Amino acid sequence: MTRHFLRDDDLSPAEQAEVLDLALRLKADRFAERPLEGPQTVAVFFDKTSTRTRVSFSVGIADLGGVPLITASGDSQLGAKESIADTARVLERMVAAIVWRTFAQSGLEEMAAGTTVPVVNALSDDFHPCQLLADLLTAKERFGDLGGRTLAYVGDGANNMAHSYLLAGATAGMHVRIGAPADYAPRADIVEDARRIAEQTGGSVLVTTSAAEAARGAHVVATDTWVSMGQEDEKAQRLAVFGDYGVDDELMAEASDDAIFLHCLPAYRGYEVEASVIDGPASVVWDEAENRLHAQKALLAWLLARKDG
Ligand code: CP
Ligand code: NVA
Repeated sequence: MTRHFLRDDDLSPAEQAEVLDLALRLKADRFAERPLEGPQTVAVFFDKTSTRTRVSFSVGIADLGGVPLITASGDSQLGAKESIADTARVLERMVAAIVWRTFAQSGLEEMAAGTTVPVVNALSDDFHPCQLLADLLTAKERFGDLGGRTLAYVGDGANNMAHSYLLAGATAGMHVRIGAPADYAPRADIVEDARRIAEQTGGSVLVTTSAAEAARGAHVVATDTWVSMGQEDEKAQRLAVFGDYGVDDELMAEASDDAIFLHCLPAYRGYEVEASVIDGPASVVWDEAENRLHAQKALLAWLLARKDG
């Protein structure tokens, strides 16, 4: 049956490990997998802006032997003039997979329900699962086995990155800690899902309002912008709330001596992270950005191998 990747827990713990292992192999041997040879086309839609996701999918699809068709959704009929369901049915006649950055998670679900080709979430308001594959790959390069390691995310606990850290981290068997203001805590149902997964994998989940408690002894410290795409109107109110949740040298000192710092980028120095951290010795954000390429190639190859027909 065709598989989709709409949220991090669409991959089981064993499947996530398989994709990460394949990503490591593809990083070492860039053209080892050519499932799109033909070439076949992958449609990539953007309802929001992007640098890394756009480039990494374009390059990755070409590396797999295929052709990327990158479309800003405003240039297509999708959404405004044509339903998601009709778009899904048209696309499956021509492309091998659909990658979509959008607002509502429900749109991705509708696309996946209406098509026979794999659909990949390239960021929604709720999750950023492709980014998490890259983040876990980056942590794995440093620490090897991820099971039992502690992953701390501080900042906006209610955004797509926080939710993906919860699900993907728990799937990897990590101890996931979210440090966020009470009004920006992660969604309760996602915390519950992460806890349920952690029970199977040996991981755990902690949600706290203390950034220091979250970071204490952590092997991975991560953060993200305080103002996600689509939240620009709330900027002033958000900057006022998140002041105590910036990652600085003091917070990094709470973490393990060998801790790494992750940020999905784009980053706002002086807000969610100080330059001394993101440009300092613990930061692996450039490896993390590069790993988008390797992780997504592995994901696409894995999904295409399981496609109907
Ligand atoms: N991290 C990330 O998704 O970056 P872009 O918005 O540039 O794609
Ligand atoms: N939370 C951020 C991630 C950007 C890659 C946003 O949605 O804008």
